[in-house]
Amino acid sequence: MLDFMPIQASEWAAKVDWLNNVITWISVFCIVVITGVMVFFAVKYRRREGDGDGPYIVDDHLLETVWTVVPTIICMAIFAYGYIVYKDMRNYPANALEINVTGSKWRWDFQYTNGKKTTSEVVVPVGRAVRFIMTSKDVLHSFFVPSMRVKEDVVPGTYQYLWFSPTKTGEFPIFCAEYCGLQHSGMLATLRVVSPEEFEDYLNDRTEGEKPQLSPIELGKLTFSPKGKACTQCHSIDGTKILGPSLKGLFGREVELQDGTKLTADENYFRESVMNPKAKIVAGYPPVMPSFEGQLSEEEIAGLIAYIKSL
Ligand code: CUA
Repeated sequence: MLDFMPIQASEWAAKVDWLNNVITWISVFCIVVITGVMVFFAVKYRRREGDGDGPYIVDDHLLETVWTVVPTIICMAIFAYGYIVYKDMRNYPANALEINVTGSKWRWDFQYTNGKKTTSEVVVPVGRAVRFIMTSKDVLHSFFVPSMRVKEDVVPGTYQYLWFSPTKTGEFPIFCAEYCGLQHSGMLATLRVVSPEEFEDYLNDRTEGEKPQLSPIELGKLTFSPKGKACTQCHSIDGTKILGPSLKGLFGREVELQDGTKLTADENYFRESVMNPKAKIVAGYPPVMPSFEGQLSEEEIAGLIAYIKSL
């Protein structure tokens, strides 16, 4: 029915569209039946010459129960299906291809883990899970790929993510879906889905108008070293305890905080620990780390995170 929907190009697409169709058909059914019966009755039972008052109708418990229970079951079924798909969308596979995305007024920049950078175009292989780790340099943006049926707000100061597995090769538009200023409507990019072989060639082709540069891991390592911000003074990378916790194998692990709460060390945890170290103190360590707010570029933070992931 909904032929105006964009092409289905990810594993999510059919599921999202199916639920959307179900809701639309239920809505159409309700509108037709309710409006139809209403109009029919309005005509059939209109007040005629000589009509008195109508009979007094008392409540009907069976009828009321049915019209409460049936819609509740339908709504809960819609919720359950939506929740199941949503949960899959939030749980990305560990082997997903990671691409950093930075939104700014008014462009999308992308960086691959090997350091390759692109603007306004991002290339991914077909059939493989891709995870976009996104932040913004200025205001709220929203990364929207209609053909993949994914959209996520991009918020300055934090990392948001989305992931999908492309099922079709081709070019698909990327939009900004959050009003972000005068050129908002022009904040476009293209997602190009290619074969795995073509993707490998693309990823390793660093010559086309692009200077060789440090990969995020190399940049992170440099920032971490005494030549950069000298994180090495307090944090080891081999498991030994100096003033702060060692960062070896920390990424993705569970961390216990001073107040007894536990969390998983993810991108946002590291970002906060660098910018606002006192927010979450690891159990057994003194709260002595200074804040690096304003001293690191987005690239350096992303680099540090990539480096810590690699340890
Ligand atoms: Cu960026 Cu709208």
